[in-house]
Amino acid sequence: MTETHTLTATGLRLAYDGRDVVADLTLAVPPGRVTMIVGPNACGKSTLLRGLARLLAPAAGVVELDGRDIHTLSGRAVATVLGILPQTPTAPEGITAADLVGRGRYPHQGWFRRWTAGDQDAVTEAMRATDTLDLAARPVAELSGGQRQRVWIAMALAQRTDLLLLDEPTTYLDVAHQVEVLDLLLDLNQSTGTTVVVVLHDLNLACRYADHLIAMRDGAILAQGPPGEVVTAEVIERVFGLACRIIPDPLSATPMVVPVGRHRMEHMS
Ligand SMILES: Nc1ncnc2c1ncn2[C@@H]1O[C@H](COP(=O)(O)OP(=O)(O)OP(=O)(O)O)[C@@H](O)[C@H]1O
Ligand SMILES: [Mg+2]
Repeated sequence: MTETHTLTATGLRLAYDGRDVVADLTLAVPPGRVTMIVGPNACGKSTLLRGLARLLAPAAGVVELDGRDIHTLSGRAVATVLGILPQTPTAPEGITAADLVGRGRYPHQGWFRRWTAGDQDAVTEAMRATDTLDLAARPVAELSGGQRQRVWIAMALAQRTDLLLLDEPTTYLDVAHQVEVLDLLLDLNQSTGTTVVVVLHDLNLACRYADHLIAMRDGAILAQGPPGEVVTAEVIERVFGLACRIIPDPLSATPMVVPVGRHRMEHMS
């Protein structure tokens, strides 16, 4: 099992060019659990994730990793404990899939970047888990959107951090691969105790896979808790401005959001 690290934000303000995106946000990521963040486009999900991962310095407030201000820690010290897959990562030009996944090992290597059997194992295991082994020699730039996304997920997994933050990891993936990736994250969480934080747009999958659901709007947390308590028609209306009905997922009994839309369907009662 991994060590349990804590990640918290207190009074966090994140801004671009003086314009606040996240204001006075306080959050304790539940250690060893799966947290999913949902909310409308541009509400600040990616900004929050980047703030939590030390990629964006706060305009006010603090992010603490194990009780220490994350901005006082070195990039490498953070990267051995916390991995992040941004929403739109950019790969170095011409890099192959295997080499990109190998970059996930950088934080663990010494000054001379000596590649060890352990590094190779981590890369192979991550590529097997994401079904990308047969893409190893292909240039990342030539992959399909979904293939590329899975290679990036492999890179994040190869980093083998105790905290893993992923921004919309299922974008571009077909439904089977979406479920596979979420299953994989849950496996990882359950087998190693890895703390997982995922930004996801699919509310129904978020409800199924999350222990803890965070609903954001306008840079603030509107509701958080177990999906069964957070997701009500009223909360969805407040968060997304969308009328919906909530029914139980027939397999997991977690909430399923059925949007109403403007076009009333024939046999709707
Ligand atoms: N680098 C940047 N410079 C300036 N403004 C930015 C930058 N990145 C994001 N923003 C702005 O901050 C706000 C929040 O963006 P953010 O990417 O955090 O939203 P999001 O909730 O992740 O949305 P989406 O669901 O579309 O990914 C938006 O208004 C966006 O235009
Ligand atoms: Mg985003």
